[in-house]
Amino acid sequence: MNNNYKILEIKDIIFNTETIKTFIFDWKIKYGEIPKPGQFMMVWNFNGESDEKPMSVSKIDLDNEEIGITVKNIGEFTNNLHSLRIGDRIGIRGPYGNSFKLNGDRILAIGGGVGMAPLRSFVEYANSKNKVVDVIVASVTQCELLFEKNFREIGVDVFTSTDDGTCGYKGFATHRTIDLLKNRTYDMAIVCGSEMMMKGIFNILEDNDIPGQYSMERYMKCAIGICGQCCVDNTGWRVCMEGPIFSSDEIKQITEFGNYHRDGSGIKHEL
Ligand SMILES: Cc1cc2nc3c(=O)[nH]c(=O)nc-3n(C[C@H](O)[C@H](O)[C@H](O)COP(=O)(O)OP(=O)(O)OC[C@H]3O[C@@H](n4cnc5c(N)ncnc54)[C@H](O)[C@@H]3O)c2cc1C
Ligand code: FES
Repeated sequence: MNNNYKILEIKDIIFNTETIKTFIFDWKIKYGEIPKPGQFMMVWNFNGESDEKPMSVSKIDLDNEEIGITVKNIGEFTNNLHSLRIGDRIGIRGPYGNSFKLNGDRILAIGGGVGMAPLRSFVEYANSKNKVVDVIVASVTQCELLFEKNFREIGVDVFTSTDDGTCGYKGFATHRTIDLLKNRTYDMAIVCGSEMMMKGIFNILEDNDIPGQYSMERYMKCAIGICGQCCVDNTGWRVCMEGPIFSSDEIKQITEFGNYHRDGSGIKHEL
């Protein structure tokens, strides 16, 4: 594990949606580990504040030695990140956590909102290995659909669903999944989104005997397994070390999955 900070210049900024931007950085082999799909970075924005937060690696471009993180503006930290420009510098350490595993030939990726971020590089990887990949891109409304165009460009089948029906299927990602499974079968699925959405998808995939891999979020501080902040009940697994990707069999053992999480002070919050 390479725990040293790299102070990196923002090379490019892609405006994905009204609330989501992707920040691109050079990531030379000399920096150490190449991120794997599903892993995350700790991002330190020292421009005016000193906080540090986890962000999934959404783009891994080995040819051009670039990586990307995709950030939804939801609070103080992410709002400050969104105000940065090309050429500004931030600190990045990582990559951390485990990664998605490629098992089988037919893969379903299901992402809600910015939950599409950790799935994108896996979809690209599986597609490059000539696997059949279908992607459900879900969001509240059309303008928040993430990476739909990127997925269509690489030639995978994309199924959109929006809560308000402004693009594609009208309904939740869960409904779209049930509908898709009437005609298609898969060897595995990868899932990221709100935990309530993931819990719904988990039940559907279990009913259809499809093994899933779920990207879980918990409040993180150290990201290297020391502070215990991100431990989940029953198992004691640290989401930053044993996760953030958990298989269906592991998810069954995490009693807090879909029920509650803890904030930075350890206080429980029902989902
Ligand atoms: C493994 C992992 C990967 C993530 N990947 C992405 C990503 O690719 N794109 C993205 O936009 N967001 C991602 N997040 C969530 C992101 O870290 C939080 O949304 C962000 O920290 C919010 O900060 P804020 O100050 O803007 O909002 P706040 O108002 O401070 O927080 C909003 C919510 O974000 C969560 N959060 C806040 N601080 C942390 C923290 N230190 N660790 C974990 N969660 C926190 C809490 O649930 C909180 O209620 C990821 C989280 C984890 C754990
Ligand atoms: S964030 Fe410290 S142990 Fe996971």
